[in-house]
Amino acid sequence: MARSQWGSRLGFILAAAGSAIGLGAIWKFPYVAATNGGGAFLFIYLGICLTLGLVLMLGEMAVGRAAHAGAVGAFRKLAGGGWPVIGYMGVLVCFLILSFYSVVGGWTIAYIGKSFDGSIMTADAKALGGIFSSFISHPLEPVVYHGVFAALTLGVVIGGVQQGIEKLSKWMMPALFLLMLALIVRVLTLPGAMEGLLYFVTPDFSKVSGAMLVDALGLAFFSLSLGLGIMVTYGSYVGKESNLVSASLWVILLTVATCFLAGLMVLPAVFAFGFDPAAGPGLTFITMPAVFSHLPMGQLFSALFFCLLLLAALTSSISLLEVVTSFAIDEFGLSRRAAAIGMAAGIFLLGVPASLSLGIWSDALLFGMNFFDLLDYLTSKLLMPLGELLLALFVGWKAWPLVAAELARNEPTHSLLLAMRRFCQFLAPALIGWILVVNI
Ligand code: PFF
Repeated sequence: MARSQWGSRLGFILAAAGSAIGLGAIWKFPYVAATNGGGAFLFIYLGICLTLGLVLMLGEMAVGRAAHAGAVGAFRKLAGGGWPVIGYMGVLVCFLILSFYSVVGGWTIAYIGKSFDGSIMTADAKALGGIFSSFISHPLEPVVYHGVFAALTLGVVIGGVQQGIEKLSKWMMPALFLLMLALIVRVLTLPGAMEGLLYFVTPDFSKVSGAMLVDALGLAFFSLSLGLGIMVTYGSYVGKESNLVSASLWVILLTVATCFLAGLMVLPAVFAFGFDPAAGPGLTFITMPAVFSHLPMGQLFSALFFCLLLLAALTSSISLLEVVTSFAIDEFGLSRRAAAIGMAAGIFLLGVPASLSLGIWSDALLFGMNFFDLLDYLTSKLLMPLGELLLALFVGWKAWPLVAAELARNEPTHSLLLAMRRFCQFLAPALIGWILVVNI
């Protein structure tokens, strides 16, 4: 059977950007930047995205297109031996990420409801914090929403690559950008917002620490959907005529722009309303309602915001489920429907303890972390960087002739290709390895 292909080059870029742009940029980036002291983190994050991120995304896409196969198949086809481990690891990590990602996706659905019933229409920091924490710690409610989010993801994935993903990405992202811009204008005109703006964009490099570097590296890979074979799988659907360099550059720029806008939207509001910048994972959910309470038709804007956040989360979660599903189809010969349903059920089950670990099971700690944090830590800070380290070695040492041929098809000059090879051979593994070791 012929592999499906993207309907257009734009469709491919939007889908890859759709995978990248999601809860990572809008939920995770603002609170991780805030807990790491703002400005310096922003610059380090941007630096990592534009160097490591760009080269490795390009590498992933080229591997996928060269092999014309998904995550595991690509490494097997191009190299064999132990290399497919990168693909297996990626599939496993997609599974793990989706289990807690879906829990947070469920929160966005719940907040659409809370926008309509008006319960979050206040600027009172204490009240908003209380609403958020009592919601996420409830034993049933967030689990049900997690189930709804997983079911929505499943619905799109069963629909197939082109119709499902492409259609959704085409109109959702421009809408999200426009709404964020409008909200930023409102936020920046609030009294006290400037302090937050300065906190976000003024680098104080004395705050740089090993832990911050690890956070920035993990967030860069998480927000760009790197290290799991997602871009390998997406690259395998791209036509040979598409220019991968410009495609990956577009995806990165769109993603970091979204992170930047999310920071501009959330952090000045945190300061304007006197919230705690170190509030952690609740930051976006606690802060944005306060902004909406200061807008005419605030309930409507609030619902629209959480709807768009939900869609952004869905375009990311379907990419995660797509990887595990196409793995099950390729490896076990299952039908698309059976593979997707089986995987989504497993992901739902694993997400249940992740959700409960924020409430009734919060005392059950492993390595000093609850299960939700442990999943996040394991995936973003250990396995994704490790996956990219191995991918860099794979591209630089093992599959270079094939990757170079893929890239030379549409573009770069000889010296650019050589620079990329050396980067993958030496610099990228050294940098990632160093940051990982600092962490451990
Ligand atoms: N990049 C997505 C986000 O930032 O929301 C999350 C994600 C998707 C991470 C796919 C990893 C991945 F492979």
